Amino acid sequence: MRLEILNVLRNAAGSYCSGEEIAKKLGVSRTAVWKHIKELRAAGYEIVSHSRSGYVLKDTPDRLLAPEIEAGLSTKVIGCHVESHDSIDSTNLEAKRIAAKDAPEGTVVVAEEQVGGRGRLERPFFSPKGKGIWFSVILRPNFLPQEAPKCTLLAAVAVARAMKECGLTPGIKWPNDILYKGKKLVGILTEMSAEIDAIKYIVIGMGINVNIAAEDFPDDLKDIATSLCIMKGEKITRVKFLQSVLRSMDDLYEKVQLCGFAPIFDEWRRYTITLGEEVRVIGVRSGEEYIGRAADIDADGALLVDVQCSDGSTERRRVVAGDVSIRNAAQSK
Ligand code: BTN
Repeated sequence: MRLEILNVLRNAAGSYCSGEEIAKKLGVSRTAVWKHIKELRAAGYEIVSHSRSGYVLKDTPDRLLAPEIEAGLSTKVIGCHVESHDSIDSTNLEAKRIAAKDAPEGTVVVAEEQVGGRGRLERPFFSPKGKGIWFSVILRPNFLPQEAPKCTLLAAVAVARAMKECGLTPGIKWPNDILYKGKKLVGILTEMSAEIDAIKYIVIGMGINVNIAAEDFPDDLKDIATSLCIMKGEKITRVKFLQSVLRSMDDLYEKVQLCGFAPIFDEWRRYTITLGEEVRVIGVRSGEEYIGRAADIDADGALLVDVQCSDGSTERRRVVAGDVSIRNAAQSK
C-alpha cells in the first residue's frame, strides 16, 4: 500500500492530492492513508500536508529502497524484482540464498551496508553505510557454465556506461575492477551454481564506492581506493546511478543472448586501461609471478600477455584468473 500511495503522489508530479482522493483511488480509509504517509516520512520521504489541499511529495531520499529503484526503471529482466536491506552480511550471500529458493532471474539484492562484504579470493570488501552501492544481480542464462566468467566483463561495461552517462571517464582494469588514477572505484564478484552442462544461477555482485570521502577510507585502503564523488568533485545520487547501471546491464544481457559476447568485448576494449600496458601478473593458483605487456583479451575474456623471453623472443601467455596490476597505474586515466 505504501508503494501505491507513493505512486499516486509521484504521478501527481508536484500537485497536491487530497487524503480522500487517495483513499478512494486505492480503496482504503483516510486513516490508513495517513498512517502510510507517516511511515513514508519516517523512511525519509518529504511529504508536505495541507489541511485543505492534501499531500504533496516534495523530495525523495537517496536511499536504496526498492520502490525508489523500481520507479521508472522500465527494464526487461534486470531489476524485475528488487530486495533492499538496511544492513546485511553480503548481498552476494543473500542473492545465493534466494536464488537457491527460485528467486526470478533479474532479481536485485541491494543494501545500505554490508557487514560481511566479500571480494575475490575471500578478501573482505569495505561497504560502509549509505556511502556506496553494494548490490547483486541474479541471472539464469542458458549458456554453458564456462561462459559465466564473461559476465564479469559485461558487468564492468554496464558500470562504465553509467559512469560515462554521469560525465565520468571509466577505466576498466582486467577483468573486474574500475579504476581512477590507479585507485579502485568498483569491484565485481561473479559466483555461480551449476551442473556440468547447465547453469542454475549466476550472481554478479558489484561494489561501487559512491560518496566515500578520502578520509573515510580505512588506512589499508587510503592509497588504493577512491570513489565517484572524489572523482567528480560532488555527491552522486545513488538511486539514479544504480538505475543507470541496471538499464545498461539489461541492454547488454539482451545483446549477449542475441549476438554472444563479442560486441560486449569490443565495448570493453574501448573502456579498458589494461591493454597496451606493462602488467605484473600473479597466478591465482600457481602463485607464479611475471611481467609482460597486456596485448588483448581472447574470445573467452582471458587476458593475453606478451612476455619477453631471455633469448629475445616473445611468448604469449593466457591469464584466466590472476592478480594483474598495471605497472604505471598511477598515471593511467
Ligand atoms: C573484488 O574487488 O574483489 C570484488 C568485490 C565485490 C564486492 C561486491 S559488493 C556487493 C557484493 N556483495 C559482496 O559481498 N561482494 C560483492
